[in-house]
Amino acid sequence: MSSSAITTTMSIPRPDAATAATSAADPFDTALISRLIKEYHSETGGSAPASSGPSGSLGDFSGITPGGSPPPVHPSIPAPLDTSKKESPAHYAFGEPNPDSWRLKGLRGEQLDPYPGGAQDSHSAGDGASYYFLPDSREPARATVPTYSVPDAGLPHFGSPFAKAGSPLAGFDVEKVRRDFPALHQKVNGRDLIWFDNAATTHKPQSVIDAISLFYERDYSNVNRAAHALAKRATDIYESGREKVREFIGAGDADEIIFLRGTTEAINLVAQTFGRQRIRAGDEILLTTMEHHANIVPWKMLSEQTGANIRVAPINDRGELLLDQFASLLSERTKIVAITHVSNALGTVNPLQEVIALAHAYGIPVLVDGAQSTPHLPVNVQALDADFFAFSGHKIFGPTGIGILYGKREYLESIPPYQGGGSMIEDVTFSKIIYAGIPQKFEAGTQDIAGVAGLAAAIDYVQGIGLSSIAAYEHELLEYATAEIQGIPGIRQIGTAASKAGVLSFVVNGVDSEKVGTYLDEHGIAVRAGHHCAQPSLRRFGVETAVRPSFAFYNTRQEVDVLIRALHQLPKR
Ligand SMILES: Cc1ncc(COP(=O)(O)O)c(C=O)c1O
Repeated sequence: MSSSAITTTMSIPRPDAATAATSAADPFDTALISRLIKEYHSETGGSAPASSGPSGSLGDFSGITPGGSPPPVHPSIPAPLDTSKKESPAHYAFGEPNPDSWRLKGLRGEQLDPYPGGAQDSHSAGDGASYYFLPDSREPARATVPTYSVPDAGLPHFGSPFAKAGSPLAGFDVEKVRRDFPALHQKVNGRDLIWFDNAATTHKPQSVIDAISLFYERDYSNVNRAAHALAKRATDIYESGREKVREFIGAGDADEIIFLRGTTEAINLVAQTFGRQRIRAGDEILLTTMEHHANIVPWKMLSEQTGANIRVAPINDRGELLLDQFASLLSERTKIVAITHVSNALGTVNPLQEVIALAHAYGIPVLVDGAQSTPHLPVNVQALDADFFAFSGHKIFGPTGIGILYGKREYLESIPPYQGGGSMIEDVTFSKIIYAGIPQKFEAGTQDIAGVAGLAAAIDYVQGIGLSSIAAYEHELLEYATAEIQGIPGIRQIGTAASKAGVLSFVVNGVDSEKVGTYLDEHGIAVRAGHHCAQPSLRRFGVETAVRPSFAFYNTRQEVDVLIRALHQLPKR
């Protein structure tokens, strides 16, 4: 297995002096090192040595080697160095680089012995692999996540009620798709389970379950931090997952993809980094009425911390954004627009192209909450020109605990990290931290590596079907269900936008939403009943709660029929 695919901005090279001296790729990251040296000198009051390039710069490291004047902040550094006392805590109480470390020796062009105790050079672990201590090559990671059987969009059509020859649905076979989802084939309360709670979370195809199991069974390791075969595999899985997400949302660069717990964490990250850095008292944060709490609360918290004001673009009686009013709320005070792509409570698909163009006309960046769009619609962040975009793995048939933030490079590079810890640094002392580049800067600590394996498999799965087929199928299912529900007396739909995705919220006259939810559960039908973490959306329609069936591509017209029959028989108690 080759490791050349590994991309990392952790640019500490494996200590191989021969390569270091000759490599045109500058494996010792001299830019970083000269920065370190300059920073060290400015900290200690010394003058920064002139860098003479990759192989010459180390000779000038006198400021921290025994020959130089003793650094004032580290009086205990001995001179001359006793190389037998490597990394003595007493010597390096502030955690400054050990002047005798292989890293600095390498910088000085000295011959390195990375394993002075005689340990074997494990550059190769015996299987031909060389591991991740590689120069920071920009070569994209190769996908090594195993691929699994996914529905073949080219298969003959076996009975989708919607497919017409030549349509995106030709070849889409819902019964075949359903066979990939083990959880769908169970009884609940004595009835076949009907999963209409997809806006809350989705079930997982076998390929996703297998990808996670396989990772734990075979490839499990932490990433990046060890020179062994499993670390290499785990790192490949992790980084190829990043590349898969990049391609999935049409980002230009995998470095712009940050793995996080989900949409909520992604929005909090932007609020607490971009927001704390750039938003001041009197500035404005523009949201819309139809946001999920995950795209309200972090901004409200920020406004309380900074004195900035929240402005809210209104929606009409169908649940559509009033674009002219949105435009009229934009001003030089607006510092960010944060908007959902698809409303989780109303199903509205927002006209993002127009929203973003309007905001950009004022130079205002836009964060898009993609939690409800990525499972249902093709997304291309570059075509949209979104500045930030977030989504959650569990809503797109992947695991919980994993999601992503996309951010344009210029933003991600200029905002501070969100959390501190391991894996997100280039260098640590007790007096100064140098952060890693993006995306590592935002990925402190051990990440959900299995989650990335599962997310990558989920993306493979939906791409195997095709987002256009998914969107077309769900659209027809929603239209069918909408027409049917309108025929039921006493039901009022909440959210009737012209452009909708997969959500059919409603209230029943005289019956609590929670009671309707419980009643449907008795029929094996799982729906959400409550405020859907979108209280302002529902209050816009004068209700506190609603019942929300929400559809995915594995739902069927027959399941909708069961729902409609049950609702016709709902006791008005
Ligand atoms: C539109 C929207 N945004 C954000 C979220 C939060 O997602 P998560 O809980 O996965 O962070 C949700 C979840 O329901 C959502 O529907």
